[in-house]
Amino acid sequence: MTRLEELLTTWIPTQRWFAGKGVAVDALRIEATHVLVPGVPGLRILVVAVAQNGRTDRYQVLLGLRAPDAIADELAHAVIGVCDSPADLRDLPSVVVYDATHDASMTAYLLDAIAEDRDDGAVRFRSAPGSTVHTGLRSLVLTGEQSNTTLVYGEEYVLKTFRRLWPGRNPDLELTSALARVGSEYIARPHGWIETDVVDPETGRTTPTTLAMLQQYLRSATDGWVLAATSVRDLYASPDLLPGEAGGDFAGEAHRLGAATAAVHRDLARVLPTDVLSPEAQARLADDMAARLHVAVAEVPELASHARTLYAAFEALGNMDADLPVQRVHGDYHLGQVVRTDSGWVLLDFEGEPAVPVRERQKLSSPLRDVAGMLRSFDYAARYQLVGRTDNSALVATARAWAQRNREAFCEGYAFGGGVDPEKHQMVLRAFEYDKAVYEVMYEARHRPHWISIPLDSIMALTG
Ligand SMILES: Nc1ncnc2c1ncn2[C@@H]1O[C@H](COP(=O)(O)OP(=O)(O)O)[C@@H](O)[C@H]1O
Ligand SMILES: [Mg+2]
Repeated sequence: MTRLEELLTTWIPTQRWFAGKGVAVDALRIEATHVLVPGVPGLRILVVAVAQNGRTDRYQVLLGLRAPDAIADELAHAVIGVCDSPADLRDLPSVVVYDATHDASMTAYLLDAIAEDRDDGAVRFRSAPGSTVHTGLRSLVLTGEQSNTTLVYGEEYVLKTFRRLWPGRNPDLELTSALARVGSEYIARPHGWIETDVVDPETGRTTPTTLAMLQQYLRSATDGWVLAATSVRDLYASPDLLPGEAGGDFAGEAHRLGAATAAVHRDLARVLPTDVLSPEAQARLADDMAARLHVAVAEVPELASHARTLYAAFEALGNMDADLPVQRVHGDYHLGQVVRTDSGWVLLDFEGEPAVPVRERQKLSSPLRDVAGMLRSFDYAARYQLVGRTDNSALVATARAWAQRNREAFCEGYAFGGGVDPEKHQMVLRAFEYDKAVYEVMYEARHRPHWISIPLDSIMALTG
């Protein structure tokens, strides 16, 4: 018969949230099993350690268990396989295991437990201070996501289950909670969370670690990326127009988004630590950027002709005389992380880069790093529809004009909303933009070579 570990070794690498795609799994170990609903139908939370190429990553699996003849058709797509029963299920020789996020009869348990602030063995369910969580809502898995799995309960809550686990409180929960405490109108209100203790392999310490976050579901939300892409498409349909003349002009939204971003940065600086980078730390930041460029140039020779300008921009940041204020920031900011609701822009997904340990993500950074992330995203929105189009040369100027107009609007909105004026901090902003574009070049070279022209063209345009 088959062991659960064997099934998971085949199944996990096929999941969208698996970060180690394309690299063989050397070993897989179930580090922790938390039985939430015993027996069958049953529910367990597993912490699974996956070793690949000398490194180990941890993932959360919400595992459903049923008798092999008792799996409904509508769960067929979620089935992982049939394996030996776990030791505590003696009367069944085998069970069918499946991804329980797709089973509303099981996910109801999670919402109930949060509402009741339940302690379930080593798993702690908590509702946020001041929140009364409503139960009895059916969940559906939100589709189209990348790094995590989000459930929508009724039209009221989303439960974001973090797939890749790093020891520590997830910055998404930490920052969203901090912003909620000061009444920020630019976030989806947090209503609770699920956590357990994970031993941090670096320190050997037992560390409370976030498994999931319950948040207000934003019914009227439209993805920022979708809105921007629609505006670009509209402009491409009438390329004789200037971006400001087209019906789908995005600049008003970009301005409001800039102001919302500034408000969130201001609140973060108010409630969480801030600092000013020492000249040494500033030099280290610039050195890190230069080191990433060095690696990228070796991998993507087309970068070489621009390397000198890029290095010079990083060096200028390293030698800059002015203070560089730092604070907690979003950390992975782009158009796919913001949604437009009836009442304005809302920022989502404050977890930072899921590939980086929580400790690293807690480090303070310049808010201009987020600004640069969004500006790069405008560039992507403007250019990605041109990839592979033979008639693209005529539209390149249009793409640039769209990106430029919305870039200016965002920066103006950011200054208007009380952030530092990005236009007055060009040296810092440019270094962050270049650094991001260099990262994109590497990313595209490795994962989406047909998109590499997007960041390469931007670097060409930015470096003149
Ligand atoms: N509170 C919410 N209300 C409505 N939609 C949401 C909410 N949270 C997330 N979403 C949708 O799910 C997508 C992914 O959420 P996100 O938190 O960015 O997850 P991931 O870490 O997987 O990127 C968002 O872009 C948005 O479309
Ligand atoms: Mg996201």
